[in-house]
Amino acid sequence: MRTTDFVASAFGVKTPKLIYGTAWKKDRTARLVEQAIKLGFRGLDTACQPKHYQEEGVGAGLAACLGPGLERADIYLQSKFTPPDGQDPERMPYDPAADLAEQLTQSFNASLRNLRTTYLDGLVLHSPLRDEARLMEVWSAMEAVFDSGGARQLGISNCYALDYLERLYGRARIKPAIVQNRFYAETGYDRNIRTFCRQHGIIYQSFWTLTANPKILSHAKLQALASAYERTPAQVFFRYLTQVGIVPLTGTTSETHMKEDLAIFDFELTATKCDAMSDLLVP
Ligand SMILES: NC(=O)c1ccc[n+]([C@@H]2O[C@H](COP(=O)([O-])OP(=O)(O)OC[C@H]3O[C@@H](n4cnc5c(N)ncnc54)[C@H](OP(=O)(O)O)[C@@H]3O)[C@@H](O)[C@H]2O)c1
Repeated sequence: MRTTDFVASAFGVKTPKLIYGTAWKKDRTARLVEQAIKLGFRGLDTACQPKHYQEEGVGAGLAACLGPGLERADIYLQSKFTPPDGQDPERMPYDPAADLAEQLTQSFNASLRNLRTTYLDGLVLHSPLRDEARLMEVWSAMEAVFDSGGARQLGISNCYALDYLERLYGRARIKPAIVQNRFYAETGYDRNIRTFCRQHGIIYQSFWTLTANPKILSHAKLQALASAYERTPAQVFFRYLTQVGIVPLTGTTSETHMKEDLAIFDFELTATKCDAMSDLLVP
């Protein structure tokens, strides 16, 4: 990816405009991560959640690519702390009896071991905690990781209520710099959340971008744009999102799709075409 294919959060952390997601790949994780990096991806998203992610495979795939010409610092590496109710009780990556702050610390240390790294570029809370005292207990532990240099920025995922994000932002000593959300019509495409993110230098990352939006992908307007640009509808959609400040995640397992996804940086939509795309984002 070229230098223009990155954005920076309020913390100045350089984030690729498209991130490779590593969920659900099981034993294929290491091979797919290696392939993605070799094809040009420079951002990786994972989680310390064995139920959905094989984090040690991400570490192995990354390690296979590092060496002359590619350093750890060239890769944006992000992982998540998944609270107990999002974990498989049979495969907990931390002590289920420990308090939340200790669980966060154990999870973070497991991520470093799995990923064979000394720091994360982003440490993300996988889902909000309803009890805000518990939220702040975890967030303070995340701030301690930030203070120690273990994470360059912090974030939250699956956060669809603007008032919750505002309260977290207001109470946090180290402000969130990442919001990673499902991008779909049911939430009005997070319009208010995205405005807040834009105003506060928070990087908004989308998942379910293709799978939750078949209507957009098959819409005549997008199909026409895809023909005009000689690109696939997925490419035009991803490209549009990057132009309006969204960082999509793609977890494709196909080499063709990896190449197509990276090729979105080879073309640009005009402002008028972007406006036409925005009209499709209706709840
Ligand atoms: N924070 C959270 O709670 C959360 C939840 C879900 C996901 N995530 C993250 O987001 C990442 C992406 O997950 P996702 O749910 O958005 O779906 P995804 O894993 O990226 O799956 C996309 C689907 O679309 C297909 N596809 C068709 N054309 C494609 C193209 N040009 N490029 C890419 N895919 C194409 C893929 O098939 P092929 O494999 O055949 O290409 C695949 O079946 C995950 O790996 C994970 O890192 C986070």
